[in-house]
Amino acid sequence: MSQRRGGSGSTGGGKGRGGDLRSAGGPRRLKERVKTAKKRSVSSTRWLQRQINDPFVAEAKARGFRSRAAFKLLQLDEKVPLLKPGQRVVDLGAAPGGWTQIAVERVGRKGRVVALDILPMEPLPGAELLQLDFLEESAPARLEQLLGGPADLVLSDMAAPTTGHPQTDHLRIVALAEAALAFAVEVLAPGGAFVCKVFQGGSEKSLLDSLKANFEKVRHIKPAASRAESAETYVVATGFRGAAAS
Ligand SMILES: C[S@@+](CC[C@H](N)C(=O)[O-])C[C@H]1O[C@@H](n2cnc3c(N)ncnc32)[C@H](O)[C@@H]1O
Repeated sequence: MSQRRGGSGSTGGGKGRGGDLRSAGGPRRLKERVKTAKKRSVSSTRWLQRQINDPFVAEAKARGFRSRAAFKLLQLDEKVPLLKPGQRVVDLGAAPGGWTQIAVERVGRKGRVVALDILPMEPLPGAELLQLDFLEESAPARLEQLLGGPADLVLSDMAAPTTGHPQTDHLRIVALAEAALAFAVEVLAPGGAFVCKVFQGGSEKSLLDSLKANFEKVRHIKPAASRAESAETYVVATGFRGAAAS
């Protein structure tokens, strides 16, 4: 569900707790080729080949993660410690649930994780799941209700399916990021953090200005698990100044 499904996987891997893939699958595996079935298009053959040869896909499967995206959150958390026991966390664009799994594990029994996606998700013990379009008017209130108090961390990995029309795609990406930030500013406790998927190469100045006004520190981080040829990157904003600052 990343913006581009077509590229090949990153094999970099992060270090430490969650992202170290240098040992994944043992020594470097020989690249496998996929036979082009008559009914399979060239692009889906390429996608399949990339999946088969992607060490993050293999490692996600081995660890029982619902998606390779789980490694992106682990690697972001390694660079900037975000997830702590007892936190209230909102996970936007959560399906199939890789980030949610990591969040549930890290916040522990005393924490709370509320995950939202427009798509259905398999139940995930320890998380409240909401199937809803985040851009629907009722979404923020429903999330807040499930959260039961101010959030410590708002995560957004939301990405709308691409239309093939670059300007439309860009506008949709920015709209999702802006909506996620507006929500974060509403629900975060002072000192809280916000992580959001954005795409390089577009005008995000107003988003960046708003982030800088609301958070003490704003970083752009591209985790190793994010495919090198994808324009995807993440803003990690920490030290929320409090609702009065916006
Ligand atoms: C890259 S995937 C998320 C992967 C997820 N973080 C994981 O770890 O498994 C992006 C998700 O954003 C969701 N999404 C896109 N637009 C949305 C919207 N308006 N409201 C809710 N979810 C949305 C998509 O349905 C998709 O599941």
